[in-house]
Amino acid sequence: MTEQLLRLDNVGYAYRGKRSRDVLVGINMGFRAGTMYAVTGPSGSGKTTLLSLLAGLDDPTAGRVLHRGRDIRETGLLAYRRDTMSLVFQSYNLIDYLTVRENVLLGGPGDPDELLERVGIGAELRGRSVLKLSGGQQQRVAIARALAGTSEVILADEPTGNLDEETEASIIEVLKRCAHEDGTCVIVVTHSSRVCAAADEVVDLPKFNQVAN
Ligand SMILES: Nc1ncnc2c1ncn2[C@@H]1O[C@H](COP(=O)(O)OP(=O)(O)O)[C@@H](O)[C@H]1O
Ligand SMILES: [Mg+2]
Repeated sequence: MTEQLLRLDNVGYAYRGKRSRDVLVGINMGFRAGTMYAVTGPSGSGKTTLLSLLAGLDDPTAGRVLHRGRDIRETGLLAYRRDTMSLVFQSYNLIDYLTVRENVLLGGPGDPDELLERVGIGAELRGRSVLKLSGGQQQRVAIARALAGTSEVILADEPTGNLDEETEASIIEVLKRCAHEDGTCVIVVTHSSRVCAAADEVVDLPKFNQVAN
């Protein structure tokens, strides 16, 4: 078995309000390079929270997130995010006043035309404002931007949630190639049975979560 790239070591997370609320308790999970994971679970089960901890956007309230065996707090969350991560959200988070190509350039040093080709965005669309694109096209641009960062890890939160089947299939193909051809660790939160079927491993979050209900 390949060495784990990312590991959640007894991770817990509680939102602290008037009453503290446990969302994740005692999570132990590992993720390897070159593998595509689908993370599933009902709405409210903590999937987005789990991704934000893996992304180093927030600190767990218990336990540790390990990257190559090292606590990411030791690395520093900012440096960890910058050097390791690419994120794809359901709302595409593209910059409205920039063109398609400019949005991908913001993602990192990768060649925007090559990346846009890979996600099936034709040359005629690349100089346009992203606002002129359909939802499916915008999501493909967001993925091209994520790929521009040459990251070890791609985290995606319901990336095909708003898309038709055909567009979903093309995005699944792109993410799978990232894992299998580039050796990227791809972790996709999803409700889609098609994404689950395409994944190398399906992680049902509630099975790992010892939160009291
Ligand atoms: N900022 C927040 N403050 C308090 N509770 C939150 C916050 N964000 C999410 N939650 C709660 O945490 C639980 C898990 O949320 P989330 O990780 O978004 O679940 P999922 O992505 O699986 O739908 C939900 O019950 C949600 O209401
Ligand atoms: Mg969510």
